[in-house]
Amino acid sequence: MKRLYLATSNPGKVREISELLARFDVAVLPRSSDIAAPVETGVTLTENAIIKANYDFEFVEGSAVLADDSGLFVDILDGSPGVYSSSFGGVEGDDKRNRAALIEGLNGVGVDFSTARFMCLMALKGSSGRIATFEGVVEGKVFTFERGTHGFGYDSMFIPDEGDGRTFGEMESFEKSTISHRSRALSKLIEAISEDPSILS
Ligand code: IMP
Repeated sequence: MKRLYLATSNPGKVREISELLARFDVAVLPRSSDIAAPVETGVTLTENAIIKANYDFEFVEGSAVLADDSGLFVDILDGSPGVYSSSFGGVEGDDKRNRAALIEGLNGVGVDFSTARFMCLMALKGSSGRIATFEGVVEGKVFTFERGTHGFGYDSMFIPDEGDGRTFGEMESFEKSTISHRSRALSKLIEAISEDPSILS
């Protein structure tokens, strides 16, 4: 069976991607715990996803690698926090600080909401070294209030246009998954593998 390594050690992402790829003849494996995460020096999601795919590829002895990078792009803030979403509040991965910084940013320009989008970029590096990228987007609005306790990151501040007025934080994970940027990028990847399984090679 072919192996597909995920360039992440986040168990939530590993579970989600494994479930969605279950019908393919591929074993989905997480990044080994003794591999340190690479420094994400890119200025776009695509650059960072490719940096991660290339980095992890060095450790997997010719297996395929799937890397992703995502972020929230707020129009009134000229696309911030964007590629810097996970450290917008000053501390990498501190969701609470990140949300507080975003609320401050919106207040700072005198608004209590803005149009925004979550974007996800996935980079698949096949065992031959060829890279293919897939993008997923969900449009919506980000508010200075927070509602809901599900999810992570900016979920409690984001209301998708395609929903029923609830924030991502108020949705069950299966509801969010029907429209999320990550599942959309993954759907495109699955479509590409279905059409041409050799992209894993
Ligand atoms: P990552 O590249 O998927 O690790 O995401 C980077 C950052 O973007 C996260 O730390 C979150 O702040 C934000 N983010 C990405 N996807 C989501 C999401 O689905 N909900 C809320 N925040 C997200």
